[in-house]
Amino acid sequence: MAMVCLSDFEAYAKKYLPKIAWDFFAAGADDCSTRDENILAYKRIRFQPCMMRDVSVMDIRTKLLGTEISFPVGIAPTGFHQLAWPDGEKSTARAAKVMKTCYIASTYSTCTLEEISAAAPGGLQWFQLYIHRNREVSKQLVQRAEASGFQALVLTADLPYTGKRRDDVHNGFHLPPHLKLKNLEGAFEVCKMNHLDPSVTWNDIYWLQSLTNLPIIIKGILTKEDAELAVRHGVQGIIVSNHGGRQLDGGPATIDALVEVVEAVQGKVEVYLDGGIRKGSDILKALALGAKCVFIGRPALWGLAYKGEEGLQDVLRILQDEFRLSMALAG
Ligand code: FNR
Repeated sequence: MAMVCLSDFEAYAKKYLPKIAWDFFAAGADDCSTRDENILAYKRIRFQPCMMRDVSVMDIRTKLLGTEISFPVGIAPTGFHQLAWPDGEKSTARAAKVMKTCYIASTYSTCTLEEISAAAPGGLQWFQLYIHRNREVSKQLVQRAEASGFQALVLTADLPYTGKRRDDVHNGFHLPPHLKLKNLEGAFEVCKMNHLDPSVTWNDIYWLQSLTNLPIIIKGILTKEDAELAVRHGVQGIIVSNHGGRQLDGGPATIDALVEVVEAVQGKVEVYLDGGIRKGSDILKALALGAKCVFIGRPALWGLAYKGEEGLQDVLRILQDEFRLSMALAG
């Protein structure tokens, strides 16, 4: 079957991945209302297209904190890529580099951050961080990320505890024995994930800044109050995100939260968005409402499940073509 749009990759992944892996990737919290709302909200937003604007030449490049990417779509941090493809995060890194875009590698990767960076030298890579109860673990990750050439840290703010994902509970989800949380090996008993520090507050941004010269981007912001706090604490970027609806169920769709965040930061920091991006026109809507760039989570996993790095490149290329076409048709 020809792969025409991202839903084709979703259908492929659902058909061919082991059920436990598919369910883990697809999961939302509770009854998944926020996960589904992320997608539905785009359908309620309509364009006011302009005609006869000479769209014969278009430039879809942009810059993230000064580094150019080929189009405004990057790869959001997601864990356990080897559940989708044997080479896991190394394939993700290579695909992002070929497509000249940004890959945010997760703390919960099944390859080490050194392996990820070595797989795509020169590629734009950011490292996603959770703050652990044992601060030494987080400190070492920050130092390793900096030493390996990652160009920013992405601090995920919306996971003091893991959301209740019913299918994972039903399935008794756990990593198969041959896969490991490679970044944390030796740090503690790795299969247990309740080692994150739920007492984290805004003051911990200062702690993080004391450890690193890398720019800090905060992920998981949904309100103007938190956006203002993020700016006041000196972050360089904000990702408007609800973790793909996997954390607090009942929060807003990210595209609906975007405008108040953009207004609150008044251009002082870059604002990005993830959640529910499935078509080129979704990207255009997010940019029109003030996002500098968007990131994809699940669609990247579907691409990997289809054909590893080639499959992920296919996903990115489809989004790129659709985005260019939407821009042209919207004038
Ligand atoms: C995630 N997400 C996530 N976020 C993060 O900061 N660290 C992580 O390790 C993970 N892991 C993870 C695993 C899986 C399977 C999913 C689906 C998501 C959240 C992710 O970065 C992003 O916010 C959402 O996936 C965006 O929504 P879409 O694009 O999946 O709709």
